[in-house]
Amino acid sequence: MSQPSTDATTRVPRGDPEAIKAAVQAHYGARVQSRASCCGAGESGCCASEPTELTLYGAEALAQLPPDVVTTSYGCGNSLALAALRSGEVVLDLGSGGGLEVLLAARQVGLSGYVYGLDLTDAMLELARRNAAKAGATNVAFLKGDIESIPLPDRSVDVIISNCVINLAPDKGQVLADAFRVLKPGGRLAVSDIVFDADLAELPVGENELRGALSWAACFAGALTMQDYRRLLLTAGFERVGLAVTRRYTIAELRAEGAELLSSLPDRAIRALEGKLTSCAITAWKPA
Ligand SMILES: C[S@@+](CC[C@H](N)C(=O)[O-])C[C@H]1O[C@@H](n2cnc3c(N)ncnc32)[C@H](O)[C@@H]1O
Repeated sequence: MSQPSTDATTRVPRGDPEAIKAAVQAHYGARVQSRASCCGAGESGCCASEPTELTLYGAEALAQLPPDVVTTSYGCGNSLALAALRSGEVVLDLGSGGGLEVLLAARQVGLSGYVYGLDLTDAMLELARRNAAKAGATNVAFLKGDIESIPLPDRSVDVIISNCVINLAPDKGQVLADAFRVLKPGGRLAVSDIVFDADLAELPVGENELRGALSWAACFAGALTMQDYRRLLLTAGFERVGLAVTRRYTIAELRAEGAELLSSLPDRAIRALEGKLTSCAITAWKPA
């Protein structure tokens, strides 16, 4: 059963980082316990109303995993396809959720490689560890922690992947700076995330009011703009930054994640949001 779309975890007190993290943990803990797939409370959300895992990863890749592992996915893109992993690489998945991408990555890097999943939510970590045991994966570890403070040494990872998570962090600049720190020189970042493809100053509503009318936990309210994503990646030290829209969200999809919240905006502001929130494929390299 889906949760009410305007629950406490949807109305996140912005500007209070610890409250945001607590609300995000409560939201994803509840979702995983109710076994609901996708990010949000509504029927669609930042993943899709279609069979997301099949659409994103393809039946062939999923057929290699036990059926249970495939049913809890909360992503908005395919960061693995972007990452083009090679045998022997060390991979870190920021906000690894139920572990699906970690397990797919573990097969791609093989036994000479290793994959870490990092997540804040205990129920997600427990599910991911159970999934890893079912899949018989021996080259993976799921770590508890905050993507703003990654519990791995400097220059220890070849590739960072992440699927629909960075938007949830209160301090995205800190996430990207810490991602840069743990990557080896020449390492790469391959991320799917929700991003505003808009200049927020041109929308007929102030930014605070706009973000207040969107759901944080469903991955919309905390989304960066394209411009800010690029700027934060460059500030962290990344080069060859690429952002490409892979999907645009309709107003109906935004409503499904919090109709009551969204209706606090004037109609013309709501109309202006059509297609402005997007799933993006984001790539960047740490200089060699
Ligand atoms: C939308 S789900 C995506 C899960 C997974 N990447 C997938 O594609 O299924 C977001 C995940 O990020 C985790 N998360 C959110 N904020 C986090 C943070 N600051 N640090 C670590 N994990 C976080 C949540 O607990 C949740 O498991």
